[in-house]
Amino acid sequence: MIIKRIIFFLALIATTACSIQAAVVAIAKDSLIERKVESIISKMTLDEKIGQMTELAIDVLGDVVNGEFKLNDAKLRKAIAEFKVGSFLNAPGPVAQSKEKWQEIIGQIQAMSMKEIGIPCIYGLDQNHGTTYTLGGTLFPQNINIGASFNSELAYESARVTAYETRASDCPWTYSPTVDMARDPRWSRVWENYGEDCLVNSIMGGSAIRGFQGNDPNHIPADRIATSVKHYLGYSMARTGKDRTPAYISISDLREKCFAPFKECVEAGALTVMVNSGSINGVPVHANYELLTQWLKTDLGWDGMLITDWADINNLYTREHIAANKKEAIQIAINAGIDMAMEPYDLNFCSLLKELVQENKVPMSRIDDAVRRVLRLKFRLGLFERPNTQSAKYPLFGSSKHAELALHVAEESEILLKNKDNILPLTQGKKLLVTGPNANSMRCLNGGWSYTWQGDLADRFAGKYNTIYKALCNKFGSGNVCLEQGVTYKPEGKYTEENEPEIEKAVNAARNVDIIIACIGENSYCETPGNLSDLAISANQSKLVKALAATGKPVILILNGGRPRIINDIESLANGIINILLPGNYGGDALANILAGDANPSAKMPYTYPRNQAELTTYDYRVSEEMDKMEGAYDYDAVISVQWPFGYGLSYTNFEYTNFQVNNTLFTANDELQFSVNVTNHGTRAGKEVVMLFSRDLVASLTPEGRRLRAFKKVELQPGETKTVTLSIKGSDLAFVGADGKWILEQGDFRIQSGNQTLNITCNKTHKWNTPNK
Ligand code: BGC
Repeated sequence: MIIKRIIFFLALIATTACSIQAAVVAIAKDSLIERKVESIISKMTLDEKIGQMTELAIDVLGDVVNGEFKLNDAKLRKAIAEFKVGSFLNAPGPVAQSKEKWQEIIGQIQAMSMKEIGIPCIYGLDQNHGTTYTLGGTLFPQNINIGASFNSELAYESARVTAYETRASDCPWTYSPTVDMARDPRWSRVWENYGEDCLVNSIMGGSAIRGFQGNDPNHIPADRIATSVKHYLGYSMARTGKDRTPAYISISDLREKCFAPFKECVEAGALTVMVNSGSINGVPVHANYELLTQWLKTDLGWDGMLITDWADINNLYTREHIAANKKEAIQIAINAGIDMAMEPYDLNFCSLLKELVQENKVPMSRIDDAVRRVLRLKFRLGLFERPNTQSAKYPLFGSSKHAELALHVAEESEILLKNKDNILPLTQGKKLLVTGPNANSMRCLNGGWSYTWQGDLADRFAGKYNTIYKALCNKFGSGNVCLEQGVTYKPEGKYTEENEPEIEKAVNAARNVDIIIACIGENSYCETPGNLSDLAISANQSKLVKALAATGKPVILILNGGRPRIINDIESLANGIINILLPGNYGGDALANILAGDANPSAKMPYTYPRNQAELTTYDYRVSEEMDKMEGAYDYDAVISVQWPFGYGLSYTNFEYTNFQVNNTLFTANDELQFSVNVTNHGTRAGKEVVMLFSRDLVASLTPEGRRLRAFKKVELQPGETKTVTLSIKGSDLAFVGADGKWILEQGDFRIQSGNQTLNITCNKTHKWNTPNK
C-alpha cells in the first residue's frame, strides 16, 4: 500500500503559556506500612540494607544433581545468612520447574531469610506470557498477539490468570508487562510488546498491571503478584536494530511516546520498574539520573522500586565504558536511582557498595531511600505475614478454564491479511497439505520465554498441545490432512539454522491435495541470540512457497514468528494469508477454528509490516517522511511502500461506518470530546470490529504526524446489527511535545478519522504546559 502524499503549508502559531499541575501521585501510601518500614529500617545495619538491594540468580544457591536442581546449604548460608541478600530470580537452568518444586525452592529460601534476616525474600520470575517457568501452567499468546487483539480485557484476564498460577508456584513477582514499543522490525524483542503504538502499549500495559496486581497496590492479595514494567525506556529503538545497542531518540519522542506506557503503568499501580539495558543519546539508562530519578520517581511521585536488568551495573564498565571498574559503575547506577541490582552472580556488589558508602561516595540517604522502596514492596505483597503460599490452595492452576481463555485470546489475536475470492473459511472435506518449517512445532507457536529463555525445549514440555498440523487433523479429519514440511529448522544451534531442504517432497505431496497450508516464519529466540542481519524470510522458505504455488494449487500462507519477515516475493502467490504471530499453546487450535470458520478473525496489525528492507517505518511517521516529486529543477521525493499498515486486518464479515459525529467541533485543552460512529455488520456472520479513532494535526510548529491513534474499542455485532460506538478523548490528548521538551496543544484544525469517516475539529486556544507531564 502506498501511503498518500499530503502537503501542508506551515502557518504561524500563536502560543499562550499557562497551566500548572502538581506531580502525579502514583499510589497513595499506606501509613501503617510506612510506619512498619521506618521501624525496621531504623534497626538495620548497613550490611543488611545493602543485602536488600541485591538480587542474585538462583544458580548461585545450588547445584544440579542427577538432572535435578538442589539447593546447597552452604551456598544458601553464604548468600542469605552472611550477605543478607534479599532477592533471587530465575529458574535453575533456566528451565521450568513444577509448582511443587518451586514450593520447595522458594520455601527453603524464605525459611532461611526469615530466620537469618527477619525480612522475607522477594523471588522474581519472567512469567512473560503465562507461566513461562512453571510446568503444567497456562501459556498465553505473547504480548504482540494481545496487542493485535486490540482487546484490553484480554490483557487483564491473561495477567490475572498468570498471577494466580505464579502464586501457586510460591512466586510473588514477575518481570512483566513489557511495554517497549515494537517500532523496529529488526529487533529481536518485537513480540514481547503490544506493538508499535504508544497508546496501545499504555492501555494494554495498564490493564495487565491491574490483572497482575489487582486494584489495591498497597495490599496485593494472595492470588496476585507484583509487576515489573520493562524496559524503562526507549529500549526498542536501537539504531542498529540489534538488542542492547544505543538508541538516539528526540526529546519529543522520548517524552511523548516512549515514556507514555510507563507513566500509564505507574499510574495503574506498578510496584516495580526494570531499566533498559541500552543507552539513549549516548547515556546508558542505568546511569541516567534525569530519567530514573527525576522523570520516574520525582515527577510521577512514584514510590516503587527500580531494578536493573541482568548484570547491567557491570555492563556500565564492561560494555558501555562509562566507568573504569565495577565500583565506579555501582556508584554511578545507585546515585542515578537504582534501588536493586540484578547482579546476578557476584557478592562483591555488596562489599563494593559498602565501601562506597563508607567513603561518602554514595550517601546513606540514597541507601535508605532504596531500602525503603524494597521493604515497602515486601509489605505491599504481604510477604511478612505470608512469606509462602501453598500450591494446594490454587485449584484452578493449569485448569481447562484457563485453557479456554488462552484459546480465546489466540483466536482474537490471529490476523487475517488476505482472503482472495473468499477462499477462507475452508469447506470441510477438502484435502489439505500442511507444509513449511512452522507446521508441526510447539516451539514456533510459543516463541521465546516458553519453558526456557530461548523457548527451545517447548516441543518437549508442550508435547500434549496441538501443533498446527495436529490441530488441523483434529478439525478436518486426519484422513484429509497430510504433512510434508519441505523445510525444517535444526533443533540445535542458532534459531536461523535450517536442515537441507526437501522441497520436491512437499511439491509431490501437493499434487494430491486441494489446498496448501504453508506455515512459514521463524523459529523461537529471545534477546541477543535473536539478532538478525537480513529481514527477509529465509531463502529456503521463499523457494518452498514458490515451488508449491507453481503446482497451481491454492496456497494459504500462515505467518508465524516474532517479527515481520519480508515476503514481498511470495505474497502475491498466496490466495489467503493469516499472521498468527506467536499465539502460544492453543495457537494451532485457534488457527484451525479460524480456517474452518468456527471463529471469525478480528485482530488487526499491531505493527507496520514492511514490504522492503530499506523502507522501515511506523504508521505515525511525520508527514514529510513521504512526499511526491517536488516541482522544478530538483525532483526530491520520498515514497514509502509497506506490505500491511498498522491497524489492518480482515474479517469473514464486513462492517460499514456511517454517521460520524462529535459533540463539539470547537475545543480547548480541558474539554471532553465525544465522538460517535455507527458501525453496521453487513455480513451473515457475527463478528468483532476494532473501532479506532485517529487524529491528524493539520498544521503544527513541529512537523505533525500523518496519523495518531487516540482511542479504540472492540465491539461485537450480530449479522445486520448496528451499534453506535462512542469514543471519548480529552482536548489535551491532542497535545504534542515540542522541540523544547514541553507539552503543547496548538490552536488550529485537526482531522479526525474512524473507519472511512472523517471530520474536522478546531482547537481555539493554544495551551502550553510548564510541568513535565500533562
Ligand atoms: C531481560 C529481561 C528479563 C531479565 C531477567 C534480561 O536478560 O532483558 O527482560 O526480565 O533478563 O530474566
